[in-house]
Order: sequence, then structure tokens, then C-alpha cells
Amino acid sequence: MVTTPDNPAPPGKALATILVVDDSRINLKGVSRMLEGHFRVLTAESGPIALQIAAAEPRPDLILLDVMMPEMDGYEVIQRLQGNEATRDIPVIFVTARVNDEDEQHGLSLGAADYITKPLRPAILLARIRNHLKLKQAQDALRDYNTALESSVVERTATLSAVLDSADQLIVMITLDGAIMAINRIGAEQFGLTPTRLAGCNLFDLLPSEFGIPLADLIAEVMDTGRSAEIDAARDERIFHVTVYPVPGEPPRVVVYASDVTDKVAADAMLRTEREQLAASLAHQRELNRKLEEAQNQLLQSEKMASLGQLAAGVAHELNNPIGFVRSNVTTLKGYLDSLFGIIKAYDTKAAESMPPEALAALAAIKQREDFDFLHEDIFQLLAESQDGLTRVQDIVQNLKDFSRVGESGFGWADLHACLDSTLNIIWNELKYKCTVVKHYDQTLPQVYCIASQLNQVFMNLLVNAGHAIAEKGEITITTRQTPDGTVQVAISDTGCGIAAEHLPHLFEPFFTTKPIGKGTGLGLSITYGIIGKHKGSIDVSSEVGKGTTFTVNLPVDRSDEAEDSPPNALAA
Ligand SMILES: Nc1ncnc2c1ncn2[C@@H]1O[C@H](COP(=O)(O)OP(=O)(O)OP(=O)(O)O)[C@@H](O)[C@H]1O
Ligand SMILES: [Mg+2]
Repeated sequence: MVTTPDNPAPPGKALATILVVDDSRINLKGVSRMLEGHFRVLTAESGPIALQIAAAEPRPDLILLDVMMPEMDGYEVIQRLQGNEATRDIPVIFVTARVNDEDEQHGLSLGAADYITKPLRPAILLARIRNHLKLKQAQDALRDYNTALESSVVERTATLSAVLDSADQLIVMITLDGAIMAINRIGAEQFGLTPTRLAGCNLFDLLPSEFGIPLADLIAEVMDTGRSAEIDAARDERIFHVTVYPVPGEPPRVVVYASDVTDKVAADAMLRTEREQLAASLAHQRELNRKLEEAQNQLLQSEKMASLGQLAAGVAHELNNPIGFVRSNVTTLKGYLDSLFGIIKAYDTKAAESMPPEALAALAAIKQREDFDFLHEDIFQLLAESQDGLTRVQDIVQNLKDFSRVGESGFGWADLHACLDSTLNIIWNELKYKCTVVKHYDQTLPQVYCIASQLNQVFMNLLVNAGHAIAEKGEITITTRQTPDGTVQVAISDTGCGIAAEHLPHLFEPFFTTKPIGKGTGLGLSITYGIIGKHKGSIDVSSEVGKGTTFTVNLPVDRSDEAEDSPPNALAA
């Protein structure tokens, strides 16, 4: 049964609906009367009817429930109300004449909001009802608020998850002992599980120790410094770049990012290898070019030397014949002149015996006029000088021959002193104005098995360099000696400018020169080095700036049974 309140609801507010349940109609009427005007009142005379009305619309905001009813007592009604989703939240106030603590406790334990004992007094009833309605309203608001809050949390969590899941790297938040607080989808897939299944699991239990230990160390470092840190770690033959960020707040936790960089690392390594190979082949190419250039230059230089040798040999050969017959003619001429002056002397003796004094005086006048005595004397002096000159020309020719060693293309035995002397003669013009040459030759020096024309080239380079080092006046000392281990030494010292320490390591490099353009090509010492290498020898240099330099060439006496072509040992002391 439904009664409509005659008391209108306050403006803007619907009246609360109260269901009054009692098996006594009189009671129902009495209570309804107390409530009308304040509430919309529904009534039910039995438990089953009350359950129907409570579940229907409009749903009551509060139920006043009689405990003692014949068909279904109040306790059962409240239990059924509690059992129904639609009615569970409606506050129930028991109304009973029976009051003892046990009943009250029983009722409250079944979910009753309150107990009111009969006889009812309107003011108390209304106040109780209002309080419970307010309480219900507050609970409803709280529940609505919670529901809204929950749905916003769900929504935001979903957005956050979507963001995290869209990342192509593993992102996981863990406590310091490794408990997973959140993990994204890619991260969970790494372990073959879903993010939900992984929540609460321990990350370190899922990782192999070769990954877990460095990660734990990294986390400790991050917690220590308060700053992010990163490492590369391997797992299942994949390499991960791991970054750990500290997360402020409680409990202490960190976020771990891990990206699979295996392919990138492999690509980087391949790139690096390719770059290294390229650099190596470039260096090899450069080395080949350098060697080619060096070989070309040495060829050029040896061609130059060979043609110089051929020129010298040609000149020597061409001069040899005319000098030979001129020398022989001068000797013959001297003999003829000896005869002629003998005849003149015989004439003079016979004339003094037999010719008249006037004729003798005329002859004496002729002799006087022609300065016969001087002529006689000077003719032989001229001849002597010519012979001297011819001897010198012959020496030069011999020097040219020695220097060129034409016909000697290979190894043979040679006297190094002769090599040094012929070379000195060739370059004497360049040295004679500013250098004194002092020779300390070891007279017991054995002959050396060598290519003499090439050693001449070595000595020429060293002597010319020594000459160039002397600016105005100085001394060049050539010392030869034999060492107990069967090598010979040729040391060429000068009192020239000396060599700066930073230049010493470069002396034997092709094209290293400190001389002005046109004066030096920088090839002399590199060719020297090559030739000495061919002879299995070595070359040392010691120098002091401002004092002078000594180059010492060491050559094995006999290497006739050894192979050619190995670089010499060059030492800068
Ligand atoms: N006796 C020396 N005293 C001082 N410096 C020297 C001496 N010998 C060589 N050097 C230095 O070594 C450099 C290289 O010598 P090298 O004989 O190879 O070339 P170069 O003399 O400059 O030219 P070239 O090709 O005409 O011989 C010289 O430029 C010079 O600086
Ligand atoms: Mg030189």
C-alpha cells in the first residue's frame, strides 16, 4: 500500500521514501501518520510484500522494519534484503517491542542500521530517520565519488599503459629488491608472460645472473648517486642497453629501461671492422705507393749514377788514347831534343877549333839574340812540366775509371781506400776551398767483397754532405779500421753544423732534406741506406749541433756466400 504525503517536498528536493513494514495495520497507520508530511511513505503488511516493494521503483531510501511478524520475521526480511543487489544498500531500522541486548546485537549483526523500540515517539523517530538518511546520502556520495575516482584511475592507468606499451623497449618499475611494480607489454613479452602475471614477481628471479648482477650493481650506484646510470648487458646472446632512473618517493624504487641493441652493436662492429679494413688497405696502399716512389727514385738516382759512371768511363776512354800517344810523343820528343842539343854542342866544339873569330862572333850574336841558353834550359823544363801535366791527366782518367768501375756490375773484391780516394778526387773541387781532409787509413784494412761503384756512391754522398755541413772552414776526417768481428768501418766526420735531434730519426727517409730547393733532393742518405742494406752492413750517425757529425759505415768483409737485399741497421746515437 502506498500513501502520498500531503506535506510537499522542499523546493528543488524530492522527498525521501520510507517503507514501513508491520503486520499490524494499526501500527502501520500510526507510523505513517508520524512520517507523512516529512517523507513519502510506502507500507507493507508482511515480509514478502516488503521485499517486493523494496526491490521495485521508486526504491525506498530507508525501511522501518518490524521484527516480530507471523509469516516472515524481520530478521529473515533483512537477510533477504541483504542478499539482493538492488536492496542491499537500503538502511534498515528495526522497530520492536522486544528489547534485549542479544536481539539488538543479532539485528545489528545482520546489517540493521539502528534499533527503535515501541512505543514510538514521533520526534525521536523523525530524528533517527533523518540521521540515517543523511548517513546514507553521505555514503552514497562517497560511493559515487569513489566510483568516479576509480573509473578515472582506470582510465588514466589505461592511458599510461597504452603509452608504456607503445614503447619499443622494456620499461619496468621495481623496488630495490627487484619486486616488479609495473612492467610494459614488450617487457612482459621478454619473459613470455603478461604484465598482470608479472606484477609482484621478482625481476632478479627472472634474469640470468650475468644480467642480474650488473643490473643490481647499477641500481645500487643509482641509489648512491641519485642520478641515472647505464650499462650494456647480455642475455640469451642478445645485448641490451640498460638505463636505470631513480624514482622519488616511497617505497624506494627505480625504473629500468632496456633496449635490445644486438643488431646495432653488430652493425657498429661491422662498420668498425670495415673502417679498420679500409684504413689498413689505405695504409697498405700508401705504403705501396711510398715504396714505388722510393724504388722509382732509387732507380732514377742509380740511372743518374750509372750514366754519370758511363760518362766518366767514356771520357776516360776517349782521353786515354790521345794522352797515351801525347805522353809517348813527349818522351820521344825529349829524346830527339837531347840528340839535337848534343849535335849543336858538337858543332860548337868543332866551330871553336876551326872557324875564324868573326864567324864565331856572328854565331855567338845569333845565339845571344835567340837567347839560346834560356831556350835550351826552358825546353826541357817545358817538357818536364808537360810530362807532369800528362801524369796528372792520366791520374784523373784513372780516377774516372776507378769511380765508374765500368764493367763491374756485380760484387767483387775492392780496396776501400782506393774507392775513397777516387771519390775524393772526383768531388775535390767542391771541397778544396773550405775543407781540409785528414785521412786515418788503417793500412792493414782488407779488401771488401762489394759493388765498388755503389760504395763510391755511398762515400760521395757522405763526403758531399760533410762538405755542405761546413759553412766556411772546417775539417773532414776519414777513418778506416777493422773490428775483431770481421767487419770494416769507414767513419766520415766533419766539424760542420751538426744535426738537430728531431731530425735524426728522419735522416734516411727519402726526400728528407733541410737544404734549400735546388741544393738537396733529400735522396742521398736514403740511397746510401739502401746500398749498405744490400751489402748487409749498417750505418750509424752521431751528431752534436754546432760541433759536427760522424757517419760510420760498417761492412762485412766477405759476404760472397750470402743473399742480397736486406735493410741495414741504422742507428742514431
Ligand atoms: N754531415 C752532415 N751534417 C749535417 N747535416 C747533415 C749531414 N749529413 C746529412 N745531413 C742532414 O740530412 C739531410 C738529408 O741528407 P741527404 O743526403 O739524404 O739529402 P740532402 O743532402 O739534403 O740532398 P741530396 O739528395 O742532394 O743528398 C740533409 O738535408 C741534412 O739536413
Ligand atoms: Mg746529401
